[in-house]
Amino acid sequence: MKAKSHWLVLWVVLLTGIVTLRAAELPYRDASLPIDQRVEDLLNRMTLDEKIGQMTLIEKNSITPADITRHFIGGLLSGGGGYPTPNTAENWAAMVDGFQARALETRLAIPLIYGADGVHGHNNLYGATIFPHNIGLGATRNPELVRAICAATAEEMMATGVYWNYAPMIAVPQDIRWGRTYEGYSEATAIVSALGSSCVKGMQGDTVQVLATPKHYLGDGATAWGSSAYEDYQIDQGVAMVDEITLREIHLPPYKAALDAGAMSIMITFSGWGETKVSSNQYLITNLLKGELGFQGFTVSDWGAIDQISPDYAEAVVSAINAGIDMNMVPYDAERFIATMQAAVADGRIPLGRIDDAVRRILRVKFMMGLFERPFSQPDLLETVGSAENRALARQAVAQSLVLLRNEAEALPLAKSVPTLFVAGVAADDIGIQSGGWTIEWQGKEGAITPGTTLLEGIEATVSAETTVIYDRLGRFRNARDSAGNLLNAEVGIVVVGERPYAEGRGDAADLSLSEPDRSLIERVRQRVDTLIVIVISGRPLIISEQLPLAEAWVAAWLPGSEGQGVADVLFGDQPFVGRLPYTWPRSMDQLPFDFATLAPDEPLFPFGYGLAGDS
Ligand code: GLC
Repeated sequence: MKAKSHWLVLWVVLLTGIVTLRAAELPYRDASLPIDQRVEDLLNRMTLDEKIGQMTLIEKNSITPADITRHFIGGLLSGGGGYPTPNTAENWAAMVDGFQARALETRLAIPLIYGADGVHGHNNLYGATIFPHNIGLGATRNPELVRAICAATAEEMMATGVYWNYAPMIAVPQDIRWGRTYEGYSEATAIVSALGSSCVKGMQGDTVQVLATPKHYLGDGATAWGSSAYEDYQIDQGVAMVDEITLREIHLPPYKAALDAGAMSIMITFSGWGETKVSSNQYLITNLLKGELGFQGFTVSDWGAIDQISPDYAEAVVSAINAGIDMNMVPYDAERFIATMQAAVADGRIPLGRIDDAVRRILRVKFMMGLFERPFSQPDLLETVGSAENRALARQAVAQSLVLLRNEAEALPLAKSVPTLFVAGVAADDIGIQSGGWTIEWQGKEGAITPGTTLLEGIEATVSAETTVIYDRLGRFRNARDSAGNLLNAEVGIVVVGERPYAEGRGDAADLSLSEPDRSLIERVRQRVDTLIVIVISGRPLIISEQLPLAEAWVAAWLPGSEGQGVADVLFGDQPFVGRLPYTWPRSMDQLPFDFATLAPDEPLFPFGYGLAGDS
């Protein structure tokens, strides 16, 4: 392994030397020239195949390093869970640098751009800081915090050579039955605009350090339940059955804010609008995004989304590229896409002018990012991965994300000196559950999947030395007995309930009621404690109306990520409750989808913006 890494370092140094030498002779390699001049110089040197290669984005396991060179591939990605083995930052850097070296062997040495979903940290990487998912950040209403989180995420990604992040997700989810609700900041357009643009600024800095990709344009949060035709999805990848006024008023403003913040890459949604897939909608992509909004960067399709336009692949490709998609996330079969493109240009179905426009946009961004000057990973940033500083930021974000829903008899904050504390629920001691989807694996996974602090560990680290903390996953506490063998009660019980990890349409849910085991758990612990606190770990509001009166206090903790200590910080008063609901909390399922235009404040269980101690 050591010999191999030495050869790779030598290879990288050699290639860097060649790249530097070439700078002397070719204008596009001269970083002192204006970007548009470099773009035009390079574009005029490119063959059609080299241009088509730049429009081709391939999943990293679906192409050989040699074919990256042979096909002039312009982009590679790790899909959810697309980590190398071993899943370390050093091995990520070696993997990505290895691919990059093959791209630089092409005639014009155009660097590839490597992308991944860093939606709550560099979340495919073991040991990376896992921040709260966007729903929790929406509860903070704190743009500066979000900017700092996206800057920290960019650091950890740059350490591994991943300079392209498929984030922030700036959907405005209108129906919380959608499995991607938690990837959204809020049901409220203004919050999404403010936090999404802050994330773009944090991620890109002043020099587009990591390319942000606001997604999924346009109207992914407006789809109707039951309108999806994909697998057994119900609403994800469905059809936005709204008029253009609604699309423009509710779903478009976050993109305007993101462009104002400097976004130079936009991902196009799987979903449809009216009769067509957005991926083939020239009005939305070219007329509105590129024309009316003046977008100067490049658009990228979602994972194989172009294939869904038509059963005729060539027709689908022609339709999408002519509609204004600049780069196709194929993501598997590079050669089929390339051959289809070559044929479509040869017979005029795709004008060469459209190819040049797409490639011009892609090259402009690569020059802006400094990829030609700095194509490889940045080892000096490896120390930021999972650093104490970034974890402290995540802990702060967790604390600010908690929403206090009920607090009878001022049960919270708890005294650190509480004599006996019962803790129950599998979610109380599980990093995977508290992180949710898009964590190490695409769908996320239960268990100790990455380093961090569980809620239980945070509680144990916070209480006094005199406090006895007893954890029982099932809440039976059979061993809690007095000297005569009678079952002991505790002054306080904390029960953690909620959802198991999911992502995308696999999280589409017709019923958001607490599970039967969770309902029983609350009832069981209720019998054994004087004061009961329920913490909900979930990607969205759940139906808790019947259970609400059973506990003195309820806290919405969303999907806090790796730093569970942030929950204990607030439960025991080291931090205040400041969070406010980013989504309306329904009383029952028959209220969904809400009609926000006519919804009365007392109809939901808790209205949008609600939060005790944080009430404004
Ligand atoms: C997924 C998602 C998108 C993600 C992309 C790459 O299907 O829809 O949000 O960025 O594929 O993982």
